[in-house]
Amino acid sequence: MSPTAEAPFGLLAELTHRCPLQCGYCSNPIELVKRDAELSTEDWMRVFDQARALGALQIHMSGGEPLGRRDLPELVEHANSLGTYVNLVTSGVGLTRERLRDLAKRGVDHVQLSLQDATREGNDRIAGIKAFDRKIEAAAHIRDEGLPLTVNTVLHRQNLDNVAGLIAMAEEMGAERLELANTQYYGWALRNRAVLLPTKEQLARADAVVEAAQERLRGKIEIVYVIADYHEAHPKPCMYGWGARQLTVAPNGDVLPCPAATVITSLKIENVQNSSLHDIWYHSESFNAYRGFEWMSDPCRSCPRKEIDFGGCRCQAFQLTGDAANTDPVCSLSPNRQTVDLILDTEMRPAVEPAMAMRKISQ
Ligand code: SF4
Ligand code: FES
Repeated sequence: MSPTAEAPFGLLAELTHRCPLQCGYCSNPIELVKRDAELSTEDWMRVFDQARALGALQIHMSGGEPLGRRDLPELVEHANSLGTYVNLVTSGVGLTRERLRDLAKRGVDHVQLSLQDATREGNDRIAGIKAFDRKIEAAAHIRDEGLPLTVNTVLHRQNLDNVAGLIAMAEEMGAERLELANTQYYGWALRNRAVLLPTKEQLARADAVVEAAQERLRGKIEIVYVIADYHEAHPKPCMYGWGARQLTVAPNGDVLPCPAATVITSLKIENVQNSSLHDIWYHSESFNAYRGFEWMSDPCRSCPRKEIDFGGCRCQAFQLTGDAANTDPVCSLSPNRQTVDLILDTEMRPAVEPAMAMRKISQ
C-alpha cells in the first residue's frame, strides 16, 4: 500500500533550462534539457490544469530563466485563470518595464529576483555576465508595478563576507522578503564545491549579521536563512519530507519529487506525457519511495528527530553514500559522517584556490 499523502501546495514549473547567467553554483543537472525537448505551450497549460485539480494553489515559474520562453505571457494568463498564485522566479535579465507590465496585467502576483553579490563587480563576476545594473532596473520596475518582491541570493565562500551589503541591497530594492540560502551541492554546483564551501569562521560571522538584521528589520523585511548543512550536526528538513508539499516539473515534462531528484539515478522518473500529475503524485514509485517514515532504517527509524528533519536530504544521501535511503551523511549520527568531515578538511581551505567552472548554457 502507498504511504498516505496530502495534496501538494504548489508546483515548481521549470519552463526552460536556458539561462543568460553562468553561475557556478547552479543546482540544475549537468545534462540540461535542450530547447527542442521542452514542453509545448499546450503541454504546460495541461500541466497547470492538472496541478490545480490536484489542489496546488501556487505556481512558481522558474528555470533557467523563464523569460526565455516566448509563451510566458500566455502561460501566466492561463495559470491566473485557474486562480493560482503566480510567482515569477527570474534573474531580472530581460525584464523590461513593458514586459513586466504585461506580465503583471496577465496575472503575475509576485516576483523573486536573484542577486549574486552586493556589488556590481562581485555580482557580475559570479553571474559570469554584466547583469547587476539590469537587476537594479528590474527591481525598480517591480516596485513601480506594485508587485511584492523577494530577493534571493545563493551564499558561498565567494560572497558570504558581504552578507551585510546584500541585506542593505534588498532594503534599497524595496524587497518584502530576502532569501539567503547557502549553496546546496547538487548538479553543476557539486563540481564547484571546493570553490564554494564556506569556512566555519565565515559562517559564524554571517550568522551574527543575519540574526541582527532579522531583529532590526522585523515587520519590514522577512529574512529567510538557509543554513550551510555540511557544518551542522543535523541535516536540513529537505523539502519538508519527500513528496510532501511540492512537485517539480522539469522543462521536458519529467515530474520530480524535488528539483534535484535526477541526481538519484536509481529513481524511475515519470513524465507528464505518460501519466497524469494525480497518478504520479499519489501512486508513482518515485513519489512514494521516501514518503513517510517506513522506508527508513536506523539510526533515523528510531530517532525522535525524524519528525523534524525527515532523515535529511535523499539527494545528498545518494550522492555521498550511493544509497538514497541512507541517513543524510551530514547527520552526526550517520555512520557516513566522516565522508562529510573529510570533504570539509580537504575542500574548505584548498592550498591553491581552484577556479570556478562557469555554467555556459547555449540559448
Ligand atoms: Fe535526523 Fe536521522 Fe539524524 Fe535522527 S538520525 S537526526 S532522524 S538524520
Ligand atoms: Fe532532493 Fe534534498 S535536494 S531531497
